[in-house]
Amino acid sequence: MAAPQKKGTILVTGAGGYVGGQIVREALESGYNVRITARTESSAARTISHYPSYAASLSSTIVPDMTVLESYAAAFADGSIEGIIHSASPLNLNPQDNVRDLLDPATKGATTILEAALKYGGGKVRRIVSTSSFAAVVDPEKGTRPGHTYDEKDWNPVTWDLAVKAQTVIAYASSKALAERAMWAWIDAHPDASFTLATICPPWVFGPYAHELSNTATISESVVLLNNIIDSPCVPPFDFGGYADSREVAAAHIRALEVPEAAGQRFLVGQDFRYQAAVDAAREALPEARERLPVGKVGDWSPEEAYRVDGSKATRVLGLKYGTLKDTVVETYKELFRARALEAKA
Ligand SMILES: NC(=O)c1ccc[n+]([C@@H]2O[C@H](COP(=O)([O-])OP(=O)(O)OC[C@H]3O[C@@H](n4cnc5c(N)ncnc54)[C@H](OP(=O)(O)O)[C@@H]3O)[C@@H](O)[C@H]2O)c1
Repeated sequence: MAAPQKKGTILVTGAGGYVGGQIVREALESGYNVRITARTESSAARTISHYPSYAASLSSTIVPDMTVLESYAAAFADGSIEGIIHSASPLNLNPQDNVRDLLDPATKGATTILEAALKYGGGKVRRIVSTSSFAAVVDPEKGTRPGHTYDEKDWNPVTWDLAVKAQTVIAYASSKALAERAMWAWIDAHPDASFTLATICPPWVFGPYAHELSNTATISESVVLLNNIIDSPCVPPFDFGGYADSREVAAAHIRALEVPEAAGQRFLVGQDFRYQAAVDAAREALPEARERLPVGKVGDWSPEEAYRVDGSKATRVLGLKYGTLKDTVVETYKELFRARALEAKA
């Protein structure tokens, strides 16, 4: 296969995470030089070690606190950054203190990267793509909402005051909604910035990591949800009715960086999701899943029992092609079973 055309340098925050790792892989495979941000030298080195064949295209910069503007000065110092993917945000479903653990880092982190691109980018940055979430789209107060189809026109209407008091996953969802809104407000207030914004709003992300998992101790909270079903007696009830494959989420970010029509747009990237459908698909395909995943009520699910998600704008504007739930859950469970086997040996 021909080597991809070289495409310039982008900055990726949150590169050490699950979604960020897939974004880095996709960016490297499509020909970008990638500069990752990390909080420490050791986490930067660990992330870079996941891409051994791309050493020449990868660099790192330490951003100890993504809410402090000056932390980003070094990231832009050589004047090479043309695009930014901001994926860093706390995915913490059990915060001790909503403001400290979620709201401040998510919202201040979101506007600080925009300020940094303005202050240090030298007018060279053309597009910023932010990993928002379906959590910024769905209105959790409206519950399962049968008959409604969520798309990019929908907004989670949470206020800061409600977010401060919200519990568990609702607090996280609030942090994503407030962060995305803060980014759009910043863009509205800075019409002369050299760059435009696009946001990617995936529901639960499942599917493989960009590197082989050696344990399940630090997996992302969404992958934890599928991991927790292993050896559990029951299939979880409905929580959020959508999922996206990690590889598709990464591809959507890169397309949103490149496609001119993505400027100023948010994209719900994902498809309908029901836990029973996921368990049925995994049990059908994998012998180990048949032994270790609960049966539930086979085939007893329907997308109509709750709201649906419409991810078709990403296909129309970004050219994103969706795969099947079966492929995504099978790849996730293969990876989880392998990681658990490694853990058991260690
Ligand atoms: N997984 C999902 O289902 C899902 C769905 C929709 C949207 N998202 C979004 O996707 C992004 C990544 O999530 P993920 O699933 O990849 O989770 P993850 O594996 O936990 O990764 C989170 C990333 O954000 C960074 N981060 C968190 N808090 C930070 C802080 N205070 N300062 C600097 N960096 C911080 C982490 O840095 P360290 O490596 O230094 O810890 C890590 O790189 C987040 O924006 C999340 O909201 C995820």
